[in-house]
This record gives sequence, C-alpha cells and structure tokens, in this order.
Amino acid sequence: MSVRHFLSLLDYSQADYRRILARAEALKKAYDAGVRPDTLRQRVLGMIFEKASTRTRLSFEAGIAQLGGTAIFLSPRDTQLGRGEPIEDSARVISRMVDAVMIRAKDHHMVEQFAAYSRVPVINALTDLNHPCQLLADVFAFEQNRGSIQGKRVAWIGDGFNMCHSYINAAQVFDFELMIATPEGYQPDPAVVAAAGDRVHIVRTAHEAASGADLVVTDVWASMGQEDERERRLRDFKTFVIDDGVMAHANSDALFMHCLPAHRGEEVTAEVIDGPQSVVWQEAEARLHTQKALLEFLILGDVSDDVGNPVA
Ligand code: CP
Ligand code: NVA
Repeated sequence: MSVRHFLSLLDYSQADYRRILARAEALKKAYDAGVRPDTLRQRVLGMIFEKASTRTRLSFEAGIAQLGGTAIFLSPRDTQLGRGEPIEDSARVISRMVDAVMIRAKDHHMVEQFAAYSRVPVINALTDLNHPCQLLADVFAFEQNRGSIQGKRVAWIGDGFNMCHSYINAAQVFDFELMIATPEGYQPDPAVVAAAGDRVHIVRTAHEAASGADLVVTDVWASMGQEDERERRLRDFKTFVIDDGVMAHANSDALFMHCLPAHRGEEVTAEVIDGPQSVVWQEAEARLHTQKALLEFLILGDVSDDVGNPVA
C-alpha cells in the first residue's frame, strides 16, 4: 500500500473521518478512565516546527507518548533543516528513522515536497494553506456537544486564511453549510471555495454570516508571519469582532470556537470567548484525542479498537 499522508482534509473520505472520530471518542473515554492503550508502542514521531506552537506540539507529543510511542522535536534552528539541506534529502533521511513525521511549515509546498520523498506518513500541522488537524478537533468538539455537524450551519468570520480554508474543506467533506464573512482583500482562495460547491457562501458582514448559525468560528487577525501587517489588519478587521451582538444573530444554542491563541478585545470579546457558548477549552483538548486516532490511522493503516486495560 502507498504511504498515507494527511496534508489536507480532502485527502480522505467522510467514512474514514467517521472511523477516526469514533476512535477519538473511544480514546477520550479511555483517557478519562485512566486507561492508556499502547497501540503505538516503540513507534517514533518526528516533529518539525518552522513556527511556534503550544497546542499542536503538546497534543502530538503527549498523544504518541500516551499510546506508548515517542516524539522527537526537530527545530530548523538546531538541525540541518535550517542550514539549507534540501527538503528531499531531509525527507529521505528522516523518514528512514521514524514512523511518521508531523510538519508545521511556513510554505505548504515544503510539506508536499517532504511527503513526496518520505517513506512514512507526513502530517500537516499547519501551513499557510490550511490546518487540517484543527478541523478534526473542531468537528469532534462540535459533535460532542451538538451531535452530527452534517447539515448544520457554520459561520466563519475573520481572515480567509489557513483556518478558513480548512473550514471550507470540512464543509465539503462533512457536508455542512458554511457562511464566510471577511473584510475586502482577505477573502479565501477562490479555488478552495469553488471546490466545495454550493455549501459555501461568501457574505459581506459578520451579522449576515452569523445569522441562524449553529457554530460561530474565528481566528487571529494577524497570523504567524503576518506580524508586520498587524496595524493595518487591526483597522481592516474592526467590524469583524465576534461580540454578543454577533452571537445574538446566531441560533440561541450556537457554540463559539477559536483554534487559539486568541486576542481578547480584537477578534473576539472576553464576554464571548469566556462566556457560556464558548467551547474553546474542549476544542483544544480535542486535539489530543483526534490526533491520537489520526496517528493510529496513518501509522497502523487503520484505527485500532484496543481500549487498553484499567491500570491496576
Ligand atoms: N491551534 C493551534 O494550532 O495552536 P498552536 O499554534 O498553539 O499549536
Ligand atoms: N491562523 C493562525 C492559526 C494558529 C493556530 C496562524 O496561522 O498563525
């Protein structure tokens, strides 16, 4: 069988994700009960980070350790990756020594190139194009609270960047309706939008996007690498704040999500992110459970059904 990579949500079918999400639920229950199945014992995950991370690093590193494996953190600063060794050569070498590689890259092309030369699964842990791992967590967290996301209405309000692209992919794969509101000049890539068909609608205002939504989502206004544009972005995005007024347009039981880190008083008010509709901490925790299931799916060729034995 050819190597399974996870570079975009479009890489697998909804049926595959249903297996991964069901396994994530079983792993969460096991974890909550203090049980740690060691389905990835003696497996090693290489983790390449060209950008900062808290949640992604922790969830992958803790996740594989909890399944009996090990992670190795590879920073370009301390490896030859940062000194110009070709990606192809790095991929050929690294993938001979580990069982999977997770990459957070500035340029999506780098992850594709690495995957093309890798003998083992490569996981996209955020690029300038998308952030598929976050969407597994977001769908999981939504469904834990509200049941199937299929046919629901989701509002994306903010930058049409990597997270927005993964929401568009998710609308296609999980079959939900997505309303997107971004400032002029910050719209998502039209090719990504077109691929999702008629499930995705671009509207002008935050209120229009939130209208009748079951889930309201945003992200930072200046992503990693866009720090120089921060002042301009603060001005351009100022009518796209998620506040109580925006949430009032959504359904009364709508949830609020944010991949984090968040800036209270910029893209979201403290009242919303710290309020009763916000599930951001559950969303962050879901990274752990969903990525454990994803690691099994990619490394073992399918998710395991081993839920381990209670610790004596
Ligand atoms: N949401 C997310 O990917 O967070 P980190 O940047 O902390 O990994
Ligand atoms: N859009 C953000 C997401 C961080 C998890 C960024 O790329 O910095």
